[in-house]
Amino acid sequence: MSQGSALLRPVTLGDLTLPNRVVMAPTTRCRGSVPSPLHALHYARRASAGLIIAEGTLVSPQPVPFVGVPGLFSDAQVAGWRRVTDLVHSLGGRIMVQLWHAGLRPLSSTEIASAIADYRCAAANAVRAGFDGVEIAANGTYLVAQFLNPRLNRRTDAYRSPSLLLLHILDAVHSVCPRVGVRLSPYWLPTDSTPPCPAYLPSEATLSVYDDLVPPLTSLAYLHLRGPALFSPDAFSRYRKLFPGFFIANNGFSAATASDAIDSNLADAVSFARHFIANPDLVTRFALDQELSLADKAFNYAGGPEGYV
Ligand SMILES: Cc1cc2nc3c(=O)[nH]c(=O)nc-3n(C[C@H](O)[C@H](O)[C@H](O)COP(=O)(O)O)c2cc1C
Repeated sequence: MSQGSALLRPVTLGDLTLPNRVVMAPTTRCRGSVPSPLHALHYARRASAGLIIAEGTLVSPQPVPFVGVPGLFSDAQVAGWRRVTDLVHSLGGRIMVQLWHAGLRPLSSTEIASAIADYRCAAANAVRAGFDGVEIAANGTYLVAQFLNPRLNRRTDAYRSPSLLLLHILDAVHSVCPRVGVRLSPYWLPTDSTPPCPAYLPSEATLSVYDDLVPPLTSLAYLHLRGPALFSPDAFSRYRKLFPGFFIANNGFSAATASDAIDSNLADAVSFARHFIANPDLVTRFALDQELSLADKAFNYAGGPEGYV
C-alpha cells in the first residue's frame, strides 16, 4: 500500500468530484502577464491533481507585485486562460484560480470600493475563461491580509472590523461566481521562511481574529489554510473545528504526513506547491511511492520554460 493512500481517495467538493485529494497550491512563476501556451503546458502536465489552484492572478493592472504575474482584467488574459482551462479540462482535470490584490498605499474608501469592484470583474472573467471557481488570496502580506492580520494593520475607519473587507469581496465575487474558496494564513509571521524558527509564535490576538472570521464563512466551497512553518496538528485542528466545510491544509507536507492528516480528519485534502513545481506527475509518484525530484529555486521566477513546464 502506498504511503499516500488516503490522498488517493476520491472526495466531493460541492458538486465537483475530485479523483484524489492532492491539490496543486497556487504558485507564482512570473511567466508572463498574459497566459501563453507555456502556461497551458505547465498546468496541463499537472492535470492529474485532484484540483489545481492556479497561481495568484491580479484583479487589476495596478499594483504589480512582481513582473510577469498574470491577470484577469483584460480580454487577452481571459483568452490566454481559456487555453489553459480547456486543456486541463480536456485531460480530465479541474482548475480554479487564485485572485490576488497586492495592496494599496495610501488607502482611501474610494480605492477600497474600486478594489472590490475589480475582484468582482476578475471573478466574472474567471468564469468566462472557463475556471471551475476562484480562490480569494487572504493570506500572506497582501490586501485582504493587511486588514485581517494585526501585524500588517492597514484598517481604515470604514473597515475597522478586520473581516469586513473580505466579507465585502466575497459578496461581490459570489454574485458572479458560484464556487469560491478562501486562503488564509493565520500563522504567517515576518519570519515565515525556511528554516522555521520555533521561537516565533503568532500572537493569540492574531489567531483570535481568525477564530471570529472563520465560522461565518459558510458559503465557501472550501477553506485553504496555510499552517505554520513547523507542522502542528493543533494549528490545523483549531480552524478545522471552526469551519464546517471542505478543508485544505498546506505547508511542508509529504505524502506520508498528508495522508495522516486526512486519516486523522485534520483535513479533507492537502495542497502542495514545491513538490508540484518539481514533479508534474506528483499524484502518480505518490501512488507508486516513487522518489520525488527537488525543485531548483533558481527557476522559480525565471522566465521561460526551463524549470517550469
Ligand atoms: C515559487 C512559489 C510561488 C508561490 N506563489 C504563491 C501564490 O501565488 N499564492 C499563494 O497563496 N502562495 C504562493 N506560494 C506559497 C505556496 O502556495 C505554499 O503555501 C508554500 O510553498 C508551502 O507549501 P509547500 O510546502 O507544499 O511548498 C508560493 C510558493 C512558491 C515556492
